[in-house]
Amino acid sequence: MAQLEILTFPDDRLKQVSTEVEIFDDSLHAFLKDLEETMDEGPPSVGIAAPQVGRFERIVLVDVSIKPKIPNHGRLILINPKIVAEQGQVVGREGCLSVPDFTGNVARAESIELEAKDAHGNTISFSMEGYEARAVQHEMDHLDGLLFLDHLVSRRDLFRRKKYK
Ligand code: NI
Repeated sequence: MAQLEILTFPDDRLKQVSTEVEIFDDSLHAFLKDLEETMDEGPPSVGIAAPQVGRFERIVLVDVSIKPKIPNHGRLILINPKIVAEQGQVVGREGCLSVPDFTGNVARAESIELEAKDAHGNTISFSMEGYEARAVQHEMDHLDGLLFLDHLVSRRDLFRRKKYK
């Protein structure tokens, strides 16, 4: 197990588009453990994407269960995730381990239908809404080299953080 280094803005590697996972083997599982440990040991976070630690594969972890009273599916490992349907739009505040000094307001789909592979390559699907759907959309952006900074509602919707905690 290892805690991995998190790339931070404006590191150009965060703009790289990640490739799909094709092999679901022990090396993938070892990486998933490291990614989980990196999320769990860092500042409290509801998600992390593989490219944030320099592995440019379409893998995200999402777990909004640390926030009270939010409907959620627990800890999700989503590999090659795809949004197959979406509805509504809602603006909300986002932060990111790769942008530790800022938060910002971003418009996201309010609810999504999601398909992905699990750690063993099985197809999994979810209907989700609200904060969990937002977290998934945020993490999936990392797979396409995008940050919440690329989606701000307006320039006035960027806020400096005093301290990441
Ligand atoms: Ni992020």
